[in-house]
Amino acid sequence: MKRVLVLGATSAIAEATARLHALRGGALFLVARNPARLKAVADDLAVRGAGRVEAFVADLNDLSHHAELLAAAETALGGPPDVALLAYGSLGTAVVLDRDPDAAVDVLNTNLVSPVALLTLVAARLEKVGRGTIVGISSVAGDRGRGGNAVYGASKAGFTAFLSGLRARLWRGGVHVLTVKPGQVDTPMTAHMTKSRLFATPGLVARGILAAVDRQADVVYLPWFWRPILAAVRALPERIFKQLRI
Ligand SMILES: NC(=O)c1ccc[n+]([C@@H]2O[C@H](COP(=O)([O-])OP(=O)(O)OC[C@H]3O[C@@H](n4cnc5c(N)ncnc54)[C@H](OP(=O)(O)O)[C@@H]3O)[C@@H](O)[C@H]2O)c1
Repeated sequence: MKRVLVLGATSAIAEATARLHALRGGALFLVARNPARLKAVADDLAVRGAGRVEAFVADLNDLSHHAELLAAAETALGGPPDVALLAYGSLGTAVVLDRDPDAAVDVLNTNLVSPVALLTLVAARLEKVGRGTIVGISSVAGDRGRGGNAVYGASKAGFTAFLSGLRARLWRGGVHVLTVKPGQVDTPMTAHMTKSRLFATPGLVARGILAAVDRQADVVYLPWFWRPILAAVRALPERIFKQLRI
């Protein structure tokens, strides 16, 4: 039975991914900050076939909870996780973030500072046992800073770079790191946006994540077509890119 740690388990993408692990009979340790939502997700996963489901309530921006929740996860799962999925994140709105430094710092704390702190602890545990997969959900937004979401893009660029470095440090020791870069996904995070045909469902992204874990991919764009789109976006000269209203 696979031991799966889900950090930010109430995220729509995390929940869809956890459902696939439940279908495989995995043992799940779920962490999120909203107790009622977390209980609903845990109950649902239990009836979907999970071998075991435990829930832990924590605001993950409070770094003082990290060591405690990882210890609780290892106790409940009977050892370090086989897969640790870090899914929580915050988009914020550019209109606010461009003018409010506190809101900008909050997004950086949620998407970069807390994930780096938490995965540093997870990495140390997996390094010790010489196995396991760390899955970090970053974003295509981290591939190039846009005027429409400079702070979010910066936070995801930092997280992508961290995951790349972590992968390079850990692979020789048997620990794998997967960077997930979704494009636009129809979840509560994007509820305010007008939906286009480029939007994917959380279920589609979840299937892509599990397939990437199974084949030990390093970086996956989900859906796949974001890889060539972002290659083109990155190739644009800055003097042209800065003129785009995106
Ligand atoms: N949706 C997209 O288009 C898209 C595209 C690219 C990347 N992503 C990334 O995918 C990941 C999952 O997002 P999603 O689309 O599934 O959106 P979502 O359903 O809105 O999930 C975001 C989750 O993050 C949690 N969270 C935020 N701050 C937290 C904190 N301090 N402590 C604990 N949990 C916290 C939220 O909990 P609460 O419900 O309690 O607030 C929520 O469960 C995020 O990292 C996001 O940046 C999303």
